Amino acid sequence: MIRERLARVPGALSIAQGGVLVPLKNIHLPVDGDSRMHTVDLSRPNAAEVNLLLPHALRNRLEDYLAGIRHHAKLVAAGVVIPHRLIMDGPPGTGKTQTARSIAGQLDLPLLTVRCDTLISSLLGQTSRNLRRVFEYAQEFPCVLFLDELDAMATARGSERDVGELQRVVISLLQNIDALPVDTILVAATNHGQLLDYAIWRRFSYRLSMPLPDSQLRQILWKHFLGEYLPEIIDLEDIARRSEGLSGATIEQVCQDAKRTAVLKGETVVDETELFRRLGLTLAFEQPKAVGSTDGEIRWLRAWYPKLFTHRVLAAAYGISQRQVRNAIEGEQHGDTGDKQSQ
Ligand SMILES: Nc1ncnc2c1ncn2[C@@H]1O[C@H](COP(=O)(O)OP(=O)(O)OP(=O)(O)O)[C@@H](O)[C@H]1O
Ligand SMILES: [Mg+2]
Repeated sequence: MIRERLARVPGALSIAQGGVLVPLKNIHLPVDGDSRMHTVDLSRPNAAEVNLLLPHALRNRLEDYLAGIRHHAKLVAAGVVIPHRLIMDGPPGTGKTQTARSIAGQLDLPLLTVRCDTLISSLLGQTSRNLRRVFEYAQEFPCVLFLDELDAMATARGSERDVGELQRVVISLLQNIDALPVDTILVAATNHGQLLDYAIWRRFSYRLSMPLPDSQLRQILWKHFLGEYLPEIIDLEDIARRSEGLSGATIEQVCQDAKRTAVLKGETVVDETELFRRLGLTLAFEQPKAVGSTDGEIRWLRAWYPKLFTHRVLAAAYGISQRQVRNAIEGEQHGDTGDKQSQ
């Protein structure tokens, strides 16, 4: 009863940091028998603070899931019981963890996040016991049980470890899910849905595929993450087009970098060129040819977006003369790759 009371304490009282993953004190979270580390994090995400930007169709699916939870009693009375189990699949940084936080926030329930890294204890024999403890704990008070990075657990079968033991981990996971009451709210996320055991997929009645953001959503993400630092004149369509293939998390990172530069320079909005420069360099990281020097950066930016990165703009951005810019660009033609670090 005390645990339940504590879990219901308003977030502001129990966690100074708001919705950050911080274990609540005074509650005995399950620990790994071996390392004594907590196998779960308990947090209280605040719905107003969790910004989740999803395409329309995904938002509807999520609303559907939440409606099923909110109207549980009515559905039970009508004999339509769908367990509140949702699995999300998608590339890194597409907002899966954020969605779990948003679900807990909107339902005003604590979020119990299972840390699969700790859970997959080095002693595998321990894992099944850890898993049972976590699932039992989740039933002690109303909460959202969130199995993050589920693939760590579920794809373990393909690894080099003892196959028999890992088989038991998966079976134990399935058994634990099956033993949950239908009204337990279970959310799972994975980056490698295709590697997940079908038996695990089958246990989740709601499935959300979280894709990389499309051009329209990228525009919204750029605008959102730049916030009040958004330059007055900026071609959002252009930046959305040029950031194709990036996740929401990467767009956020680029915005943070550009905002930091603005703050340190005492400016109130980000500089558009600096924003594109950050974006260009982020994209360069994904190219096979590393951009390991200033000359390399200049050459890359010039080739990536020649219309914006003229000699003059590049000279200003790097605080060098236009002649130096020209030398950097022409350096390549003379066989100097400029990537001294990669040599
Ligand atoms: N659709 C989105 N709406 C709002 N924020 C987003 C979105 N996608 C990504 N982000 C931002 O990116 C950060 C990382 O997202 P999140 O941790 O939810 O990704 P993930 O899908 O769980 O990634 P991983 O698979 O690597 O764990 C979030 O903190 C959030 O700020
Ligand atoms: Mg995540």
